[in-house]
Amino acid sequence: MAKMIRMMLLLGLFCIGTANADDDRARFNYMIHCQGCHLPDASGYRDKVPRMINFLGYFLHSREGREFIIRVPGVSMAALPDDEIAELMNWLINVYSAEQRPAEFIPYTQSEVNALRQSPEADPLTTRMRILRAIAAEQPNLLQDLTNIN
Ligand code: HEC
Repeated sequence: MAKMIRMMLLLGLFCIGTANADDDRARFNYMIHCQGCHLPDASGYRDKVPRMINFLGYFLHSREGREFIIRVPGVSMAALPDDEIAELMNWLINVYSAEQRPAEFIPYTQSEVNALRQSPEADPLTTRMRILRAIAAEQPNLLQDLTNIN
C-alpha cells in the first residue's frame, strides 16, 4: 500500500512537471522564434508588426480568424514542429490575450496546426482586416474602433 501511494505521488509530480515544462518550452520558443519582431511583451511595432497582447484572442471569435493566426507566415513557416506551434499559440492566447478570447476557447491541436500550415496566408494584412471587420460587424461590442488596431 505504501508503495502504491509513493508511486501515485511520483506520477502526480511527473504530471505537474510536464505541465510546467510545456509552458517553459512555449515561453522559450516565443523568445527564440517570435519576440525579435513581436517584442518580449507582444506589443509589436505600430504599423509594422501587429500587437498580440490584449488583442490576439479577438481572432478566435471566427473560424477564419482561428485559422488565420496559424496560417500567417511568422507562425506557419516558423522552424518548429506542429505540436510546439499548437502549444505556443495556446500559451500566447492564454497568457497575453485571455480577456479577448471567447470563454469557450478550444485549444489548438497538432493535427489542426498541421493542416493549416499547408496553406500559408499569402496576403496577411488584407485578410486580417477582412476578418476583423467581419467580427466587429457581428459583435460590435468587441471591436469598436478598427482604426485603433495596430
Ligand atoms: C521577422 C519578423 C517576425 C517574426 C520572427 C514573427 N512574426 Fe508574427 N508577424 C510579423 C509581421 C510583420 C506580421 C504582420 C503580417 C505579415 O506581414 O506577415 C505578423 C503577424 C503575426 C500574427 C497575426 C496577428 C495579427 O494581428 O494580424 C500572428 C498571430 C503572429 N505574427 C505570430 C507570430 C508568432 C507566434 C511568431 C513566432 C513563432 C511570429 N509571429 C514570428 C512579423 C514576425
